[in-house]
Amino acid sequence: MLLDRRMRRLLLVALALAFSFLLLKPSARQSPPQPPVYQDDHPIVRFHPSSFDWWSSAKQHHPVPSLKHKLPPPPNSHSSVPTKPLHPVQFFFPPGYKPNNLTRHRRNAVKQAFVKSWTAYKRHAWLSDELAPVSGHGKTTFGGWSATLIDALDTLWIMDLKSEFYLAASAACRIDFSSGTAKDTTSSVNLFETTIRHLGGLIAAYDLSGEFALLEKAAELGGMLYTAFDTPNRLPPFWLDFQKAKKGGLRAGVEEPSAMAGSLTLEFTRLAQLTGEQRLYDAVGRVVDFFEETQNGTRLRGMWPRRVNYQDGGADEDGVFSVGGLADSLYEYLSKMAALLGRGRPERFERMWKGAMGVVEEYLLFRPMLEEDEVNEVGEQKDVLFAGEARVHEGGKVERVPEGQHLGCFAGGMFGLGGRLFGDEEYVKVGEKLARGCAWAYGAFPTGVMPEIFELIPCEGDWRDGPCKFDEDKWRKEGNKKLKKPFKSVRDAKYLLRPEAIESLFIMFRITGKKELQDLAWDMFQSVVKSTETELAFSAISDVAVQGPTKKLDSMESFWLAETLKYFYLIFSPPDLISLDEWVLNTEAHPFRRDSSGFITRGDFPEAPPPRPKPWKKKKPVVP
Ligand SMILES: *[C@@H]1O[C@H](CO)[C@@H](O)[C@H](O)[C@H]1NC(C)=O
Ligand SMILES: *[C@@H]1O[C@H](CO)[C@@H](O)[C@H](O)[C@H]1NC(C)=O
Repeated sequence: MLLDRRMRRLLLVALALAFSFLLLKPSARQSPPQPPVYQDDHPIVRFHPSSFDWWSSAKQHHPVPSLKHKLPPPPNSHSSVPTKPLHPVQFFFPPGYKPNNLTRHRRNAVKQAFVKSWTAYKRHAWLSDELAPVSGHGKTTFGGWSATLIDALDTLWIMDLKSEFYLAASAACRIDFSSGTAKDTTSSVNLFETTIRHLGGLIAAYDLSGEFALLEKAAELGGMLYTAFDTPNRLPPFWLDFQKAKKGGLRAGVEEPSAMAGSLTLEFTRLAQLTGEQRLYDAVGRVVDFFEETQNGTRLRGMWPRRVNYQDGGADEDGVFSVGGLADSLYEYLSKMAALLGRGRPERFERMWKGAMGVVEEYLLFRPMLEEDEVNEVGEQKDVLFAGEARVHEGGKVERVPEGQHLGCFAGGMFGLGGRLFGDEEYVKVGEKLARGCAWAYGAFPTGVMPEIFELIPCEGDWRDGPCKFDEDKWRKEGNKKLKKPFKSVRDAKYLLRPEAIESLFIMFRITGKKELQDLAWDMFQSVVKSTETELAFSAISDVAVQGPTKKLDSMESFWLAETLKYFYLIFSPPDLISLDEWVLNTEAHPFRRDSSGFITRGDFPEAPPPRPKPWKKKKPVVP
């Protein structure tokens, strides 16, 4: 076998040499770059340093006098003060539980959609940020550092497309992160997007594969992104502008999304854990300080506005609070930081998360006024929730705005995960209702897909009371007859291949073990494929409310491969694949290994475990 392989490799090398003589004439330089052809064993993934070394060469103009935050020591060391253990997240699927034929078939269909998209990217947009899925060319949208390639790395690994993974990983480790230098004149990068997509993607690919070159690349990029914190108050601006950075001229913004600085913590912390680089953890620790100090002083005490003033802690005065776009992952990362840090975690993440969620429950959640014949799989009237917006008026009166957003659909998973981690099953129930709300909204449109933004007629009263009675008069007065009851309007009818709805179904499936959630996911998947598929791949569409063929927008953002298809694949996979007890996913669905020093196995869990839903199928439950 060994000899065989070696001979084959020799032959391949000889052939490759011969071909390169024949084919690599100067004219070949004109054509767009082509991916290398995968051969035999995986190539060794080699690290190619960028032409600028950010850690040693970039001067800090506003250095920190000393580190204020250090990674928590392991809980068993004498210096540590371990906090309460976190509860296990996943439903107790019996050992040896395997998906059945139907689930395998579904999972395979998802993989096929991924392979189709990936193949088209390779053929038509290799090394570009994105593929244009209708016209078939590459787009530069995030600095030209192959966003789709990096974003897809861990999905390739998870879907067991290992040869493709190594090919892509090798290419990723050649990327030159030297912006703002003579070599690369990119003038600025989006700190948030580059952190969640590129840094998150490289870290997860390393955490899964153990290929060291990927960690080296991540560390290099971390050095570049760390320069964004070189401001007088050490809070980062939205744009990392390299010319300003060189002169020490970066300043925190005065009206920038709260999700921006709020969702760097997970990536910087994981990179700090892997490299021992405490400066990374300190940098985001100071951002958490900022949010902690301002949480109780906002117009809606407990939540942060969508845009904040990072210079004086003030907020924009539009008075709108939401867990949707601009703010979303700020909330998501509070509970996920606890998951990542485990037992040594600072206690404030739980406190801040619960403080905010209490306000979401009080002012944002609402029930759509559903008709009586809208029933769930056991024949009861559907009891679903949405997270809308709260608008604070002069004098402090709070108005609940019953608007739904695709971006806000992650909230179900967030409630579920935080509730389970912190041992409060009431949040878990809310999470499931939110997840089911978005799945219901998918089914409410002719394409079977939910739009970006819409408004619903809500029930009056407290959402804790369960479904309300449908009010025909109200519908006649306020409803939109062209839409399904009880929709009032669709403000943005596009679907951009977004993941948040399937994300929440996936997390709630892993938490509750309820198979119905897989069925909802399958309906969604089929609709998404049907309405977005192009000859080459899949595309954003302009209007989910059309009957018949949809209009394609020639856009396939990298999250389609990083998130949407990964979540669809995982919900139909054996539940120990990316178990939520071992991994925590960043807001771009990149899994980071949860710090093992903080990981509590079921065996040594000292408190009562969360109530277990009915055991899977007929198999005997196994006592942990
Ligand atoms: C599942 O697939 C296997 C092998 O393809 C087949 O033998 C078996 O009958 C199938 N089971 C069901 C329930 O369809
Ligand atoms: C904010 O208010 C909550 C609830 O009253 C409290 O637990 C928390 O400590 C406060 N945070 C700060 C920074 O004062």
